[in-house]
Amino acid sequence: MSERMPIIAANWKMHHDHFVAIQYTQKLSYLLDKKDTDGVEVVVCPPFTDLRSMQTTIDSDRIPVALGAQHCHWEEQGAFTGEVSPAMLAKLTVKYVIAGHSERREIFGETDEMVNLKVKAIWKHAMTPILCVGETLEEREAGETDTKVEGQVRAAFAGVATEQIAKTVIAYEPIWAIGTGRNATPDDAEATIAVVRAAVAAIAGADTSEQVRIQYGGSVKPGNIGALMERPGIDGALVGGASLDPEDFARIIRYRV
Ligand code: PGA
Repeated sequence: MSERMPIIAANWKMHHDHFVAIQYTQKLSYLLDKKDTDGVEVVVCPPFTDLRSMQTTIDSDRIPVALGAQHCHWEEQGAFTGEVSPAMLAKLTVKYVIAGHSERREIFGETDEMVNLKVKAIWKHAMTPILCVGETLEEREAGETDTKVEGQVRAAFAGVATEQIAKTVIAYEPIWAIGTGRNATPDDAEATIAVVRAAVAAIAGADTSEQVRIQYGGSVKPGNIGALMERPGIDGALVGGASLDPEDFARIIRYRV
């Protein structure tokens, strides 16, 4: 049994306004018993406009859910129209920030260098990055999966302190599995996660790599979470589509039942 606390995170992407977010949070809280969240960390990453309302709901009802954000800029403030700084998120008691999601890399041109700046900025404000890595279908078919994820891990952690690397959450998300209904088999997910862990060991040592929590993401559903979480190398999940419905997300959180 791994000593790493499993972490199940919802990535709503660009869905749910703040009214829906409040209802969702209350419903999730009603659906979950204390035993469901004992020993499992639950995170919800809504769009920016929902953060303040969700923070208030979580605080006033003492809901055992941590708040996450999907993106941030790396500077504290300045002429960056449309961006949100990590300091602004930290003020809202945001605990996790996703960095390097494949949609940000592919659609918004987030490079490895930008991901590295974000990882450092998130840590500077005492939040924890959820660093996403993963290969395209083309890369997978060309046998380049391992090189791709190793390179992404190395670039993201350049100049990052070992203690911070140890606490960073990594999400292995094969791009061909995101939103497609095709998920990696537990065998494939576990094999690439082992490559990611070895890449962390090469940078920061074996002890550090044993502490890092590595999630799988890509078409995780109530029906496949159990088989993934049975694998000792898989420490949680980053869930997109199936996290939009609080009932489905609650079933994913209750994967042990
Ligand atoms: P999905 O998305 O669960 O809808 O495949 C996962 C993600 O993008 O984080």
